[in-house]
Amino acid sequence: MEDPRAHARELARESIARGDATGWFEQLYRESERDGLAISWVDLAPNPYLVEWLYGRSASPSGRALVVGCGYGDDAELLAALGLEVVAFDISPTAVDHCRSRFPESPAQYVVADVLAPPPEWTGAFDLVFEAYTVQVLPGAARAACARSIAGMVAPGGIVLAVARSRRQEDPEGLMPWPLTREELDAFLIPGMRLTNLRELVEPGDPPVPRFVAEFSRH
Ligand SMILES: C[S@@+](CC[C@H](N)C(=O)[O-])C[C@H]1O[C@@H](n2cnc3c(N)ncnc32)[C@H](O)[C@@H]1O
Repeated sequence: MEDPRAHARELARESIARGDATGWFEQLYRESERDGLAISWVDLAPNPYLVEWLYGRSASPSGRALVVGCGYGDDAELLAALGLEVVAFDISPTAVDHCRSRFPESPAQYVVADVLAPPPEWTGAFDLVFEAYTVQVLPGAARAACARSIAGMVAPGGIVLAVARSRRQEDPEGLMPWPLTREELDAFLIPGMRLTNLRELVEPGDPPVPRFVAEFSRH
Protein backbone atom coordinates (compact mmCIF):
# COMPACT_ATOMS: atom_id res chain seq x y z
CA MET A 1 0.00 0.00 0.00
CA GLU A 2 1.19 3.53 -0.84
CA ASP A 3 2.83 5.53 1.92
CA PRO A 4 0.11 7.88 3.35
CA ARG A 5 2.30 10.97 3.01
CA ALA A 6 3.22 10.11 -0.60
CA HIS A 7 -0.48 9.64 -1.36
CA ALA A 8 -1.39 13.00 0.23
CA ARG A 9 1.38 14.67 -1.79
CA GLU A 10 0.05 13.18 -5.01
CA LEU A 11 -3.50 14.36 -4.29
CA ALA A 12 -2.17 17.81 -3.36
CA ARG A 13 -0.11 18.03 -6.53
CA GLU A 14 -3.06 17.09 -8.76
CA SER A 15 -5.46 19.42 -6.96
CA ILE A 16 -3.10 22.40 -7.05
CA ALA A 17 -2.38 21.73 -10.74
CA ARG A 18 -6.16 21.99 -11.34
CA GLY A 19 -6.08 25.40 -9.64
CA ASP A 20 -7.77 24.09 -6.49
CA ALA A 21 -5.43 24.53 -3.51
CA THR A 22 -7.73 22.90 -0.95
CA GLY A 23 -9.99 20.40 -2.75
CA TRP A 24 -7.67 17.52 -1.96
CA PHE A 25 -8.36 17.57 1.77
CA GLU A 26 -11.97 16.47 1.33
CA GLN A 27 -10.88 13.91 -1.24
CA LEU A 28 -8.34 12.47 1.20
CA TYR A 29 -10.72 12.34 4.19
CA ARG A 30 -13.45 10.80 2.03
CA GLU A 31 -11.11 8.12 0.68
CA SER A 32 -9.91 7.41 4.18
CA GLU A 33 -13.48 6.97 5.50
CA ARG A 34 -14.38 4.76 2.56
CA ASP A 35 -11.26 2.61 2.32
CA GLY A 36 -9.83 2.84 5.83
CA LEU A 37 -6.61 4.41 4.52
CA ALA A 38 -4.34 6.16 7.00
CA ILE A 39 -3.91 9.94 6.85
CA SER A 40 -0.37 11.03 7.60
CA TRP A 41 -1.25 13.71 10.18
CA VAL A 42 -4.00 11.83 12.03
CA ASP A 43 -2.82 10.49 15.38
CA LEU A 44 -6.08 10.78 17.34
CA ALA A 45 -4.38 12.59 20.22
CA PRO A 46 -4.09 16.24 21.22
CA ASN A 47 -1.13 18.12 19.83
CA PRO A 48 1.74 17.66 22.33
CA TYR A 49 2.84 21.30 21.94
CA LEU A 50 -0.65 22.49 22.77
CA VAL A 51 -0.63 20.22 25.82
CA GLU A 52 2.77 21.56 26.94
CA TRP A 53 1.67 25.14 26.39
CA LEU A 54 -1.55 24.67 28.34
CA TYR A 55 0.03 22.90 31.28
CA GLY A 56 3.06 25.22 31.35
CA ARG A 57 0.84 28.20 32.16
CA SER A 58 0.10 29.39 35.67
CA ALA A 59 -3.60 29.77 34.78
CA SER A 60 -5.73 27.90 32.28
CA PRO A 61 -6.96 30.03 29.41
CA SER A 62 -10.64 30.86 29.49
CA GLY A 63 -13.30 32.24 27.19
CA ARG A 64 -13.77 31.36 23.55
CA ALA A 65 -11.32 29.21 21.59
CA LEU A 66 -11.11 28.57 17.86
CA VAL A 67 -9.34 25.52 16.41
CA VAL A 68 -8.22 26.01 12.81
CA GLY A 69 -8.16 23.02 10.42
CA CYS A 70 -9.34 20.82 13.28
CA GLY A 71 -9.04 17.47 11.49
CA TYR A 72 -10.55 14.80 13.74
CA GLY A 73 -11.07 17.09 16.73
CA ASP A 74 -8.60 16.01 19.43
CA ASP A 75 -7.29 19.54 20.08
CA ALA A 76 -10.82 20.93 20.21
CA GLU A 77 -11.86 18.27 22.71
CA LEU A 78 -8.90 19.03 24.96
CA LEU A 79 -9.75 22.72 25.02
CA ALA A 80 -13.44 21.99 25.60
CA ALA A 81 -12.53 19.68 28.49
CA LEU A 82 -10.69 22.62 30.08
CA GLY A 83 -13.90 24.62 30.02
CA LEU A 84 -13.29 26.82 26.99
CA GLU A 85 -16.18 27.53 24.68
CA VAL A 86 -14.81 25.93 21.53
CA VAL A 87 -15.52 26.39 17.86
CA ALA A 88 -13.48 24.04 15.66
CA PHE A 89 -13.56 24.16 11.90
CA ASP A 90 -12.21 22.41 8.86
CA ILE A 91 -12.65 22.84 5.14
CA SER A 92 -13.48 19.14 4.81
CA PRO A 93 -17.15 18.29 5.51
CA THR A 94 -16.14 14.65 5.97
CA ALA A 95 -13.64 15.57 8.71
CA VAL A 96 -16.25 17.75 10.44
CA ASP A 97 -18.88 14.98 10.26
CA HIS A 98 -16.31 12.60 11.69
CA CYS A 99 -15.75 14.94 14.68
CA ARG A 100 -19.48 15.21 15.30
CA SER A 101 -19.98 11.44 15.27
CA ARG A 102 -16.81 10.76 17.21
CA PHE A 103 -17.78 13.20 19.98
CA PRO A 104 -21.60 13.24 19.97
CA GLU A 105 -21.84 14.72 23.47
CA SER A 106 -19.16 17.33 22.93
CA PRO A 107 -19.82 20.93 23.88
CA ALA A 108 -17.42 21.93 21.08
CA GLN A 109 -19.10 23.25 17.97
CA TYR A 110 -17.74 21.64 14.78
CA VAL A 111 -18.18 23.74 11.65
CA VAL A 112 -17.26 23.51 7.96
CA ALA A 113 -15.44 26.71 7.03
CA ASP A 114 -12.53 27.98 4.98
CA VAL A 115 -9.82 29.82 6.89
CA LEU A 116 -9.29 31.95 3.79
CA ALA A 117 -12.91 33.19 3.94
CA PRO A 118 -14.12 32.74 7.53
CA PRO A 119 -17.56 33.86 8.72
CA PRO A 120 -17.43 37.63 9.37
CA GLU A 121 -18.69 37.16 12.94
CA TRP A 122 -15.44 35.35 13.81
CA THR A 123 -13.40 38.53 13.30
CA GLY A 124 -11.80 39.50 16.61
CA ALA A 125 -14.02 36.99 18.42
CA PHE A 126 -11.74 34.43 20.11
CA ASP A 127 -9.54 34.56 23.23
CA LEU A 128 -7.42 31.68 21.98
CA VAL A 129 -6.89 30.57 18.39
CA PHE A 130 -5.01 27.32 17.95
CA GLU A 131 -3.45 26.50 14.60
CA ALA A 132 -1.44 23.35 13.92
CA TYR A 133 -0.10 22.45 10.49
CA THR A 134 -2.65 24.26 8.30
CA VAL A 135 -0.49 27.10 6.96
CA GLN A 136 2.16 24.59 5.91
CA VAL A 137 -0.19 22.54 3.73
CA LEU A 138 -1.23 25.57 1.67
CA PRO A 139 0.71 26.76 -1.37
CA GLY A 140 1.97 30.19 -2.41
CA ALA A 141 0.11 33.31 -1.38
CA ALA A 142 -2.52 31.30 0.51
CA ARG A 143 0.03 30.76 3.31
CA ALA A 144 0.35 34.41 4.32
CA ALA A 145 -3.38 34.92 3.71
CA CYS A 146 -4.10 32.03 6.08
CA ALA A 147 -1.80 33.44 8.79
CA ARG A 148 -3.37 36.92 8.48
CA SER A 149 -6.86 35.46 8.62
CA ILE A 150 -6.01 33.46 11.76
CA ALA A 151 -4.59 36.57 13.44
CA GLY A 152 -7.70 38.51 12.50
CA MET A 153 -9.94 36.19 14.51
CA VAL A 154 -8.26 36.93 17.87
CA ALA A 155 -10.02 39.20 20.33
CA PRO A 156 -8.18 42.08 22.05
CA GLY A 157 -6.09 40.50 24.83
CA GLY A 158 -6.22 37.14 23.06
CA ILE A 159 -3.57 34.72 21.85
CA VAL A 160 -2.73 32.74 18.72
CA LEU A 161 -0.73 29.58 19.30
CA ALA A 162 0.68 28.28 16.02
CA VAL A 163 2.63 25.08 15.46
CA ALA A 164 4.38 24.33 12.18
CA ARG A 165 7.29 22.55 10.60
CA SER A 166 10.14 24.99 10.10
CA ARG A 167 13.05 25.50 7.73
CA ARG A 168 15.80 28.03 7.26
CA GLN A 169 15.28 30.59 4.50
CA GLU A 170 18.22 29.20 2.55
CA ASP A 171 16.96 25.59 2.70
CA PRO A 172 14.94 24.19 -0.21
CA GLU A 173 11.17 24.49 0.05
CA GLY A 174 10.91 20.70 0.19
CA LEU A 175 7.76 18.67 -0.36
CA MET A 176 4.26 19.09 1.07
CA PRO A 177 3.93 19.78 3.99
CA TRP A 178 6.09 22.79 3.12
CA PRO A 179 7.86 23.98 6.29
CA LEU A 180 7.57 27.65 7.23
CA THR A 181 10.49 30.03 7.30
CA ARG A 182 10.94 32.44 10.21
CA GLU A 183 9.98 35.24 7.79
CA GLU A 184 6.66 33.56 7.00
CA LEU A 185 5.68 33.77 10.66
CA ASP A 186 5.63 37.55 10.26
CA ALA A 187 2.38 37.21 8.32
CA PHE A 188 0.65 36.68 11.70
CA LEU A 189 1.78 40.17 12.73
CA ILE A 190 -1.21 42.15 11.56
CA PRO A 191 -1.70 45.48 13.37
CA GLY A 192 -2.12 44.91 17.11
CA MET A 193 -0.36 41.52 17.10
CA ARG A 194 3.09 40.82 18.49
CA LEU A 195 5.18 37.71 18.82
CA THR A 196 5.32 36.93 22.54
CA ASN A 197 7.13 33.60 22.48
CA LEU A 198 8.90 31.54 19.83
CA ARG A 199 10.22 28.04 20.42
CA GLU A 200 12.40 26.58 17.72
CA LEU A 201 12.87 22.90 18.37
CA VAL A 202 13.83 19.73 16.59
CA GLU A 203 11.57 16.77 17.13
CA PRO A 204 13.61 13.55 17.23
CA GLY A 205 12.89 11.14 14.41
CA ASP A 206 14.26 9.77 11.19
CA PRO A 207 14.65 12.37 9.85
CA PRO A 208 14.37 14.80 12.79
CA VAL A 209 11.66 17.43 12.27
CA PRO A 210 12.39 21.10 13.03
CA ARG A 211 9.36 23.01 14.28
CA PHE A 212 8.16 26.42 15.41
CA VAL A 213 5.80 26.82 18.32
CA ALA A 214 4.87 30.48 18.14
CA GLU A 215 2.69 32.48 20.49
CA PHE A 216 1.27 35.79 19.28
CA SER A 217 -0.70 38.16 21.49
CA ARG A 218 -3.11 40.87 20.52
CA HIS A 219 -3.25 44.08 22.49
C1 LIG B 1 -2.16 18.89 8.08
S1 LIG B 1 -3.81 18.84 8.56
C2 LIG B 1 -3.70 19.18 10.32
C3 LIG B 1 -4.95 18.80 11.06
C4 LIG B 1 -4.92 19.11 12.54
N1 LIG B 1 -4.76 20.52 12.79
C5 LIG B 1 -3.82 18.32 13.19
O1 LIG B 1 -2.87 18.94 13.68
O2 LIG B 1 -3.91 17.09 13.20
C6 LIG B 1 -4.48 20.35 7.93
C7 LIG B 1 -5.96 20.46 8.15
O3 LIG B 1 -6.40 21.73 7.68
C8 LIG B 1 -7.56 21.56 6.92
N2 LIG B 1 -7.58 22.68 5.97
C9 LIG B 1 -6.82 22.83 4.87
N3 LIG B 1 -7.09 23.99 4.26
C10 LIG B 1 -8.05 24.58 4.99
C11 LIG B 1 -8.77 25.79 4.85
N4 LIG B 1 -8.54 26.61 3.81
N5 LIG B 1 -9.69 26.10 5.77
C12 LIG B 1 -9.94 25.25 6.81
N6 LIG B 1 -9.31 24.08 6.99
C13 LIG B 1 -8.36 23.75 6.09
C14 LIG B 1 -7.42 20.20 6.28
O4 LIG B 1 -8.65 19.65 5.86
C15 LIG B 1 -6.76 19.42 7.41
O5 LIG B 1 -7.71 18.84 8.27
